[in-house]
Amino acid sequence: MGRAFVYVILGGGVAAGYAALEFARRGGYSRGELCIISEEAVAPYERPALSKGYLLPEGAARLPGFHTCVGANDELLTTKWYKEQGIELVLGTKVISADVRRKTLLTATGETISYKTLIIATGARALKLEEFGIQGSDAENICYLRNIDDADKLVNAMKSCSGGNAVVIGGGYIGMECAAALVTNKIRVTMVFPEKHCMGRLFTPKIAEYYENYYTSKGVTFVKGTVLTSFEKDTTGKVTAVILKDGKHLPADMVVVGIGIRANTSLFEGQLVMSMENGGIKVNGQMQTSDSSVYAVGDVAAFPIKLFDGDIRRLEHVDSARRTARHAVAAILEPSKTRDIDYLPFFYSRVFTLSWQFYGDNVGEVVHFGDFTSSSPRFGAYWVNKDRITGAFLEGGSREEYEAVSVAVCRKAKVANMDELGKQGLEFAIQE
Ligand code: FDA
Ligand code: NAD
Repeated sequence: MGRAFVYVILGGGVAAGYAALEFARRGGYSRGELCIISEEAVAPYERPALSKGYLLPEGAARLPGFHTCVGANDELLTTKWYKEQGIELVLGTKVISADVRRKTLLTATGETISYKTLIIATGARALKLEEFGIQGSDAENICYLRNIDDADKLVNAMKSCSGGNAVVIGGGYIGMECAAALVTNKIRVTMVFPEKHCMGRLFTPKIAEYYENYYTSKGVTFVKGTVLTSFEKDTTGKVTAVILKDGKHLPADMVVVGIGIRANTSLFEGQLVMSMENGGIKVNGQMQTSDSSVYAVGDVAAFPIKLFDGDIRRLEHVDSARRTARHAVAAILEPSKTRDIDYLPFFYSRVFTLSWQFYGDNVGEVVHFGDFTSSSPRFGAYWVNKDRITGAFLEGGSREEYEAVSVAVCRKAKVANMDELGKQGLEFAIQE
């Protein structure tokens, strides 16, 4: 049993949706030549909604409202759209092996799907506590968050726990955004993570302090510099408490775990060149892997960043998924016209009424600026390396201000005096 396509997009997440739109815009295929194979039962959607709008107690986002590509203020690609465009959606279908030499994929249902050109958009999976030696994270009131099924489980857990206690494990993106959502749903939150402060991969201690104080003012308790060792459960298997390394018990009606991800590369290990340091599939500036018929995009791809002198990075953010996907399609359909990708790394988050953006790389010396004291804040930081701006963070900026800091990073603006930079703050970027 089998089907043959010219183009196959493996994975049905953010990158897949943006790749499909790019194919349709460029008209580079005939009906029935392009398919998306996804383990998920629904057409591609904007994953960031799952830790934000989807968790709101009222007026929550629901499909079909947040299919791609509404996150970039573009067309809403419903199942009907794919049908109209002649793009086959092979949903609820997991690919269990790939043969790059033969250009075939084998699905869990036993079908062999062949391609001429493959775009790998398999994204990533949430790390499980079991991988850190902690057992029992399959309990019905322990929630991870990567897909719609996870989000539904989380919503149900929140509904049955109003006024109760939640423990959030992990102080990264999922931890911070879910903690805010839990508070909004009137659930008391304790966050537990091993680092000295939240968002350790990006925030400086000073930036983290602002958000931690803000969260504390919303009733969140932080337990930092430690990890959990086990769960206490009742006779039905539900978690009732989280037990920490120092023996402390934190009562819990539910637990949310966000302890990082691993890129879904396993189907291609031993067949394509990997970027070991980044844990992803290595691609060139055309998003092409070591096999010229295979491209990789989104969370799974490790690609060269021109701005960082060609340094290879794997980014875990939606803007990168959207842009790398579009770039791969351009490179496939119009290789001679498509230059190597020139991407400015961009991350953002929105929690409560706060909203920040970050551009570039957080390396070098840090200079903070702005007002860190207000509850409607406007502050930020520049990272400076070899007298040049390498990264910029801004909370509470206007569209023009975000644009200005992004341009300063893009241009690697020269810094003559660090003290002056701190005093000038946003003005430095605006005057650039
Ligand atoms: P993505 O994970 O979206 O899609 C992968 C797809 O491949 C899935 O459909 C999966 O089922 C499928 N798949 C994998 N293996 C398969 C197999 N063997 N067979 C078939 N299908 C397979 N970023 C940001 O910049 N700002 C934000 O606010 C947020 N917020 C956010 C919230 C939450 C809850 C999450 C989980 C993530 C974010 N992100 C984010 C990160 C962002 O969503 C992420 O970078 C993109 O979704 C990556 O897009 P991809 O298409 O690469 O993977
Ligand atoms: P993360 O890498 O942001 O944070 C992981 C956190 O796990 C660390 O900060 C650390 O505190 C914690 N941790 C690690 N090991 C631990 C252990 N043994 N015990 C307890 N805590 C431990 O990952 P995440 O928060 O799980 O997010 C998953 C993915 O979703 C990431 O790729 C992220 O980029 C993406 N995401 C992005 C956004 C955004 O960009 N706004 C929002 C949500 C999710």
